[in-house]
Amino acid sequence: MKIVVTGGSGLIGEYVVDELKKFHHEVTNFDIKEPKDKSVDFVKADMLKIDDCRKVFKGAEVIVHLAAVPNPYNDPPEKIMNANIMGTTNVYVAASELGIKNVIHASTDSTYGFWYRKQDFLPYYLPLDEDHPLNTQDSYGLSKKIDEEIAANFARSYNMQTISVRIPFVVIHGTIMPLMVHYNIPSYKAVVENPELLKDGFWVYCDVRDIAQAFRLMVEAKGLKKHEVFCVCAEDNITKINSVELVRKYWSERILFRKEVKGRAPLMDCGKAKAMLGYRPRYTWRDIVEGQ
Ligand SMILES: NC(=O)c1ccc[n+]([C@@H]2O[C@H](COP(=O)([O-])OP(=O)(O)OC[C@H]3O[C@@H](n4cnc5c(N)ncnc54)[C@H](O)[C@@H]3O)[C@@H](O)[C@H]2O)c1
Repeated sequence: MKIVVTGGSGLIGEYVVDELKKFHHEVTNFDIKEPKDKSVDFVKADMLKIDDCRKVFKGAEVIVHLAAVPNPYNDPPEKIMNANIMGTTNVYVAASELGIKNVIHASTDSTYGFWYRKQDFLPYYLPLDEDHPLNTQDSYGLSKKIDEEIAANFARSYNMQTISVRIPFVVIHGTIMPLMVHYNIPSYKAVVENPELLKDGFWVYCDVRDIAQAFRLMVEAKGLKKHEVFCVCAEDNITKINSVELVRKYWSERILFRKEVKGRAPLMDCGKAKAMLGYRPRYTWRDIVEGQ
């Protein structure tokens, strides 16, 4: 299939582009930043300019939309809101004008509102899933929650299927992620050994190669609803401690479990992606920590 990936030069984008190429898709990377991999068709373009989207998307069958300000660490709220909401609006408007029938965009577990919250609150239940309310308090989470609404809106309005992919903390072998830089965490080993660090994300994570697998499966999926949300994560939590014990110790005794969480099973449920897409996470943090 002919696919345009926005943000294909980014941390996740590089792996998504690579996975799509491996499965013989024809990929164009749309980014304001030059990619490391020079073998991929690249167009230097800005999603905040709708004519760039119109020009680059022409002829594409699928848009995988990853470009964003991906966290609130370095930018003020107005920049995050403008980039993520206007950028996503331009992507969907251009895709709808061109009759592109499939747009998949990167959302985040920050839409639940626990990351970057200003006031404490508890989840309604665990594990988090596609139905859990999105109670954002910060601009990054809010911008992505609005992006999910934009995706649903365009699916209702046009002959277009849209997917929002809720991505948790991503781990990449050999790369210190922005969250780690922000909190001055030197290694994945330190993340694993300090459960306080990933508390706000309920210790949910995913290897970037599994994220790439999920996007490819979504590109190739048939028979989905007009707008779908999928949670995607690893098979375990990013600590050596059982998940229920973590919740009781770092959150509250009072949180309700909607499903049994055995051992170190994740506190986000990616059962929908497994059942509907055949998603099978292949990597755990051990692959990365042991490779450090
Ligand atoms: N990394 C994570 O842990 C994580 C977790 C949850 C969700 N996400 C989401 O996944 C997506 C990718 O995240 P990432 O970690 O790869 O971020 P990244 O910053 O590494 O990549 C984003 C890419 O978007 C590009 N971009 C930004 N503004 C643009 C514009 N105006 N026009 C064109 N390109 C532009 C950047 O140049 C960059 O290459 C984002 O939407 C992010 O919100 C990431």
